[in-house]
Amino acid sequence: MAKIGALKKSGFGKTSRRDAWWVGPAATFVVLATFVVYATWAAFQGDHYWYRNYLSPFYSPELLGSSPHSLFGPKPDAWPSWLPFSPALIILPFPAFFRFTCYYYRGAYYKAFWADPPACAVSEPRKGYTSENGWPLKIQNSHRYFLFFALLLLIFLWLDVWHGFHFADGVHVGVGSLVLLVSTGTLTFYTFSCHSLRHFLGGRLKYFSKHPTQYFCYQCVSGLNKRHMLFAWLSLFGVMFADLYIRLVSMGIWTDWRLF
Ligand code: FES
Repeated sequence: MAKIGALKKSGFGKTSRRDAWWVGPAATFVVLATFVVYATWAAFQGDHYWYRNYLSPFYSPELLGSSPHSLFGPKPDAWPSWLPFSPALIILPFPAFFRFTCYYYRGAYYKAFWADPPACAVSEPRKGYTSENGWPLKIQNSHRYFLFFALLLLIFLWLDVWHGFHFADGVHVGVGSLVLLVSTGTLTFYTFSCHSLRHFLGGRLKYFSKHPTQYFCYQCVSGLNKRHMLFAWLSLFGVMFADLYIRLVSMGIWTDWRLF
């Protein structure tokens, strides 16, 4: 097998690789850019984010807002007029930052957006490797702290799933109930396969045999961690589709079919 050094040529984008190495970064660029544009647009709308017992995951938990899902009532009168208001703008930065600082996504968007490098064994535009030891990339180390926000948010998202099956006339299954279930399910797999969670549970243990419960949890997270990339993409599509579904149903463009 050829060594990476032998495949790499000098000059941006130069390489001896003969495979379609650019397909992965190009696909990542298109999908992530679409997600960022859509999520930003949806977060600023402040409308059509709920439909009866469904609440968009971009807006959950709704701390302040005009929907029946709001935990602390409507926007306070003291809210500054110059500050844009949308329930999503209060909560979405936390899961967004969790995803932005994810170890997997960093590898993906460093290649797709910054060409640093464009792919393995492909020359990059910069001469020196600056790493994440300096600002502003040092901020990526905050991922381990955002993990705890993400775990907390999962509680609210599962409550939304619960509500998604509880209609005014009893317990039923609508297409929206399943959409919320899949969205939160994939987000749960994504969060529980996190590298930081794996390290938190077992990375610091010297003797696994002395901590059997922790070791068991560590093994579970390690098993999920092998599929972290898959969960990262599934949860991205899942959460975006859940918002889109509830938005279109709320606008009357789609109908929420009841299955049971
Ligand atoms: S490493 Fe991806 S969510 Fe933590």
